[in-house]
Amino acid sequence: MKQFRIIQGGMGVGVSDWRLARAVSVSGELGVVSGTALDILLVRRLEQGDTDGAMRRALSAFPDQAVAASILERYFKPEGIGPEGKFTSLPLWRAEGENRELEILNVAANFAEIYLAKEGHEGLVGINYLDKISLPNPSGIYGAMLAGVDYVLMGAGIPLHVPGILDRYSQGLGCEMKVTVEGAAKDERHEVSFEPSRILANPPSELKRPKFLAIVSSNVLAMTMVARASGKVDGIVVENHTAGGHNAPPRGGLTLSESGEPEYGPKDEVDYGKLAGLKVPFWIGGSRGTPEGVGEAVRQGAFGVQVGTLFAFCRESGLLPELKRRFLEAVKAGTAKVFTHPLASPTGYPFKLGELAGTLSGKIEHMARKRVCNIGLLREIFKKEDGSLGYRCPAEDGKAFAAKGGDGQRSGEARCLCNGLLANLGLGMGYSDGTVEKPLLTVGTHLESLRLLIQKFGLDYSAQDVLRFLGVSGAR
Ligand SMILES: Cc1cc2nc3c(=O)[nH]c(=O)nc-3n(C[C@H](O)[C@H](O)[C@H](O)COP(=O)(O)O)c2cc1C
Repeated sequence: MKQFRIIQGGMGVGVSDWRLARAVSVSGELGVVSGTALDILLVRRLEQGDTDGAMRRALSAFPDQAVAASILERYFKPEGIGPEGKFTSLPLWRAEGENRELEILNVAANFAEIYLAKEGHEGLVGINYLDKISLPNPSGIYGAMLAGVDYVLMGAGIPLHVPGILDRYSQGLGCEMKVTVEGAAKDERHEVSFEPSRILANPPSELKRPKFLAIVSSNVLAMTMVARASGKVDGIVVENHTAGGHNAPPRGGLTLSESGEPEYGPKDEVDYGKLAGLKVPFWIGGSRGTPEGVGEAVRQGAFGVQVGTLFAFCRESGLLPELKRRFLEAVKAGTAKVFTHPLASPTGYPFKLGELAGTLSGKIEHMARKRVCNIGLLREIFKKEDGSLGYRCPAEDGKAFAAKGGDGQRSGEARCLCNGLLANLGLGMGYSDGTVEKPLLTVGTHLESLRLLIQKFGLDYSAQDVLRFLGVSGAR
């Protein structure tokens, strides 16, 4: 395995897009594209006019040009779309029937992102998916593999099935994937399938099998992945509860601190010695974004570290420059705050909110938002009394959620991450009443490393500066 110390963590939605992943990859470390909601990102970028031509350039390399042409014809708006953000609403992913339009878009979008991240150099590029957002994963992985992705990383669940999918795709085959349905009987099996020939007129008979890195939070999960996965697990990223984005819930039950954050204890500590005993390369994620953090990880037996927060605010990340600047100014002034919210994410996992005025981290903005569910990536699939499948999300309208059997306790504080995270990129949906979705930042706990970084490189720093700061040899 080509050695890299740093994995630039996958950061959704679109925070680690192809630009960031490419910048890290050309420096000899692992650049990782976020694979979340790429179908929507492709559509919105095309509707914004694809001003730098990147999406059209990538689509012109897509193996089936009839598919690429149909996407451009449908979504590309040379004149762009105004600040009102009236983007096309795509259908929502479903576990039954076909998701044909979405599958086509998703294969092309994942291809485009990886194609651009790998364009013109030999560096390694990975893509990150969440097991929890399962329905788009089979088509997404296929699209990324079509563009020669080197690594697939997946967490937020127990993705035992994924290595086997990589093996099948590498042999030119399709796949079936089990889908979790709340309230389904134990012996009931729900699955979705993906067939390359549904998308491409002439699918390739083989593809490069990317390496698979499982993102886990505990020794038990690491062991389970290595022992029971459907194919080879090539490495482990072990992420602790200080990392940005979603965190694993505390082991042994949830208690809240005085400030209302989940309390973690000794049970949540990872035994790195035991992890090394699995004889699988591993990286440590969460608050390791300092030269000392990297050194300590290596002493603990790791190949290196996975870093998110420092990269999230660099020049090449997809976050709106204005959000980056405001949060970094607060870090510099020592007033920035990160809150681990037990209920903000519809997934039920704790989620780190970067507090920033005018965004959905605030109670007022959260309460004022009309609770529409029009993207639906975090919807739970459940079995209705009549046997058919239903879909619900704690962030949708509270009454609608309760009417579908949802637990009201989870509803009030739940934020619409789908819309909020898209708004972080300037791609927030606009509505006929003139409102536009507001952003929602997520940031890791360890702001001290961010403060030291900007002390050295200023508020407008590059991905290369992050690597220099971390002291890795690849940084030129
Ligand atoms: C803005 C942001 C978004 C993130 N999104 C994801 C994600 O979509 N999937 C994922 O596995 N991890 C995600 N993470 C976690 C990172 O990949 C990485 O593991 C983590 O940030 C490392 O800890 P650090 O923030 O202390 O550097 C995100 C982190 C941040 C800061």
